Amino acid sequence: MAGRIPQSFLDTLLDRVDIVDVVDRRVKLKKTGKNYSALCPFHDEKTPSFSVNPDKQFYYCFGCGAGGNALGFVMDYENLEFPQAVDNLAATVGLEVPREESSERDQQRREQHQALYDLLDKAAQWYGQQLRRHPEARRAVDYLKQRGLSGEIAARFDLGFAPPGWDNLMKALAQDDAGRNALTEAGLLVQNDAGRRYDRFRDRVIFPIRDQRGRVIAFGGRVLGDDKPKYLNSPETPVFHKGRELYGLYQARKHNRSLQRILVVEGYMDVIALAQHDINYAVATLGTATSETHLQRIFRMVPEVVFCFDGDEAGRKAAQRAMEATLPNMEDGRQARFLFLPDGEDPDTLVRARGADHLLHLIDNAMPLEDFLFEVAGEGLNTLSLDGKARMSKLALPYLNRLPTGVYRELMFDALAQRTGLTRESLAALTPPEPPPEAIPEPLTEASFHSNSTPENAAPQSHEPPPPAEPVQRPAQPRPRGFSNLAQSAIALLLHQPSVAASVRKESLEGLSGADIALLRDLIGTLHSDPQMSYARLMGYRHGTPEGELMNRLASQERLIPGEGIEQQFCDTIESLSRQMSRMELEAEVDKLRGANYADMSELDKLRLKEKLSQLTQLRKHRGPG
Ligand code: UTP
Ligand code: MN
Repeated sequence: MAGRIPQSFLDTLLDRVDIVDVVDRRVKLKKTGKNYSALCPFHDEKTPSFSVNPDKQFYYCFGCGAGGNALGFVMDYENLEFPQAVDNLAATVGLEVPREESSERDQQRREQHQALYDLLDKAAQWYGQQLRRHPEARRAVDYLKQRGLSGEIAARFDLGFAPPGWDNLMKALAQDDAGRNALTEAGLLVQNDAGRRYDRFRDRVIFPIRDQRGRVIAFGGRVLGDDKPKYLNSPETPVFHKGRELYGLYQARKHNRSLQRILVVEGYMDVIALAQHDINYAVATLGTATSETHLQRIFRMVPEVVFCFDGDEAGRKAAQRAMEATLPNMEDGRQARFLFLPDGEDPDTLVRARGADHLLHLIDNAMPLEDFLFEVAGEGLNTLSLDGKARMSKLALPYLNRLPTGVYRELMFDALAQRTGLTRESLAALTPPEPPPEAIPEPLTEASFHSNSTPENAAPQSHEPPPPAEPVQRPAQPRPRGFSNLAQSAIALLLHQPSVAASVRKESLEGLSGADIALLRDLIGTLHSDPQMSYARLMGYRHGTPEGELMNRLASQERLIPGEGIEQQFCDTIESLSRQMSRMELEAEVDKLRGANYADMSELDKLRLKEKLSQLTQLRKHRGPG
């Protein structure tokens, strides 16, 4: 059973099955034009928005965003893990599934993890049963009711109860020493200095923590009263690394597969109270600072994150850390905002006291990352004085330098220039008391800056005066509308007509980074080695991954693809990407040169700076209008 399924078998399988049959056997399909449609089996609906495309061999629901190839459909519909879904599908076409030998170590680790998942799942079920049946559970149920929670919400989050006593769970789930060892490894038992073991969670409300795929990986437990510590959490185990996980992410995604926004809060109860008030996109960090890993996870799912923090000093410090973790993740099209709550309130108390609409209003008006960043950089400074401006630039520049290349980064540098009244050229070179010659303050009209960071929106509005000398960077070539960046529009074109991959070299993307670029490069590489590859096969193992979801979304936007000239469009897009690249590289060099104290620069470096600046001007001119 164990062992990896070879890619080649997966390819054969996906070529052999027809997704129309696979789906139709489970959900009756109706032919509508080229495609088939049905009521979506993954969410409640009255008019069909679920569609199956026989050419591409994929399905997509415009209502809830579910999508994938035949294998993905079986996984989601039958609730199967990947290997079981392969077995299931292979059986229908009479194929036997080969397994590659995996190293003994891998296999052992996989088995050990699986045993832990199974045990944790059993424990979650047991805690759930105790909440329903244990004679003392009344107190827990009353506690949850008093906090405004319904049975439905308690069930959605699988809330449980750890009864009072030292060994209830141990007795229920471990028969022998091996069982007790396993429970200890899962973090459910604690061993004292004398070697005695007992239940970690006692007389507490239990919050099972699930990973992105829905597996129980740990627990949080809250006391029913005011005892200390208020919350206990599972320790780190082989399957639980608390700095990476977000409580509630699985439930939020399960509730809505095409989430647009995630709200990051501090506590379990905040997530649940918000869901109780129909705000179903809150997640909580597990008593740790917001990490880059958290942000990576969030942004692969949604384009917008809103952080919710206490308005006090600690909250602001935490927000600053969250901002630092966010910066490297601010690819174009993404948005981050900060909401500071009134003193003494948290999302739970606020939503219960003032209602969901009030909170939604606060969320909609939360402070954009850009404002918060400049607020942090300008804190305690008189930003009206030249000296204050210089200091603020010094503090802001390291932040801005953490931004990935792209339009947003450009806009941020422009915004810093605007706020300090200095040209971009002179910004970093500024050294009081004697500003270098270029530092002639010039007004920078970046009216669109505060609205949104996507290129489309960043274009100057028609009623504005003509753009300043350095217009906002826009892609040189037209591209299909509705895709949040160049890489995504290239992916969409590629999925629509895979043969276009042949017209570009894989190296054209060298040096560019970002998740979308990585996927684009990967797809081009795959199509170079097999130009005939179908969409279903390109999708391969990607079902349920952020890449897979992006592919489905892009492939489903067929109507946004122009009718003709796809190959030309694709080549143009790739060229824009690589030109963007040269420009960014040049800018990085310029930034580095400028980072030095202008007065201390050698004549040679000054010359180099001048040369690079003129090259950059050339490149920017070349860019042409959008
Ligand atoms: P808070 O102290 O803000 O509690 O902890 P809360 O979420 O408002 O809890 P309620 O409303 O009183 O039930 C926020 C988060 O910090 C972690 C938990 O993850 C909690 O959700 N925490 C807090 C602990 O891990 N241990 C503690 O003792 C307290
Ligand atoms: Mn609270």
